[in-house]
Amino acid sequence: ASAEKGGFDSFMEKEIFDQPAAVADTLLGRSDAFGRLTLDELRITPEELASVTKIVVLACGTSAYGGSVAKYAIENWCRIPVEVELSHEFRYRDPIVDSNTLVVSISQSGETMDTLMAVRYAKEQGAKTLSICNTNGSTIPRESDAVLYTHAGPEIAVASTKAFLAQITATYLLGLYLGQLRGNLFSGQIKDILADLGKIPAKIQDILDRAEDIKELARSMKDTESVLFLGRHVGYPVAMEGALKLKEIAYIHAEGFAAGELKHGPIALIEQDKPVFVVVPSPRGRDSLHSKVVSNIQEVRARGAKTLVIAEEGDESVREFAEFVFYVPETPVLLMPLLATVPLQLFACELATAKGLDVDQPRNLAKSVTVE
Ligand code: AGP
Repeated sequence: ASAEKGGFDSFMEKEIFDQPAAVADTLLGRSDAFGRLTLDELRITPEELASVTKIVVLACGTSAYGGSVAKYAIENWCRIPVEVELSHEFRYRDPIVDSNTLVVSISQSGETMDTLMAVRYAKEQGAKTLSICNTNGSTIPRESDAVLYTHAGPEIAVASTKAFLAQITATYLLGLYLGQLRGNLFSGQIKDILADLGKIPAKIQDILDRAEDIKELARSMKDTESVLFLGRHVGYPVAMEGALKLKEIAYIHAEGFAAGELKHGPIALIEQDKPVFVVVPSPRGRDSLHSKVVSNIQEVRARGAKTLVIAEEGDESVREFAEFVFYVPETPVLLMPLLATVPLQLFACELATAKGLDVDQPRNLAKSVTVE
């Protein structure tokens, strides 16, 4: 087993380190030399896709956070409304879907029963169904009208890591493809975004090369009982995912919040030395977004929180309010989740290891949930 783990202590850690390849392989062969998307494998005609008026993303757990990230990008690029819903909530509320709705399910395993049942239901209602999946020939892609595989390779650890980054990559390819088909994006824009996506694997590697910085923090926090995670915009689902990882494998109470919600309640949780991760958007993006998050850091810091910041390289403005800063390389705002998630995965993995837990087989959890 140790050989299968490639010298790492756990499959989870190995899979975190597989992420440059997971993203690169998911991008591979899906655009031509002119920067045009070539998703011919989709089994759904360009005409059908062009007529879509609404997208509904269905998924559970980490895959649903992947969908939440995708919403920002697809709406921005294609101007199609995107709803993201947990599969098990979808079916029971008489959802409004029709033949112009594209239901995109996201599932690493392709066997999650809640998601399968939701896809079946959507199909019965006449929606077009597209599966984003990491497992060749599994049930959800087989039952869907179309499939776009993620190429993360087999994911063994119960806690999903590389599948998540591959899912974001695949949904971004889908968004760009829709933007291309519908004429929402110019070819130059698509080419630029593809070029930025192409640089992501090396940037993830840069983070992995500095893993020790975040691991050291994790070890120092092994007796922590509760951690909060804040983010805005695409940083919000990243915060949710960071919290989920910590709950799943380190059995620590963790909660992710939209940073703007702080003053509507969660700020009451802040007390002396409370660890709070804050995912800070690029200062080069929408100006107000960055400054709002920086003021959220100040707000929690003023109430005694231990502020742990994930920010973009070169962002000096966060330093004076942060107990700890981990910098991720520069990238366009919408692509930041592909980088900012990585230190949070490393943090959870190392903290659980430091607690002596079995990182790959957390209690009460199964890798794929095949019951409703
Ligand atoms: C992630 O770390 C989880 N173990 C879990 O939330 C998972 O993402 C969820 O069960 C969905 O699984 P799927 O992607 O295989 O459908």
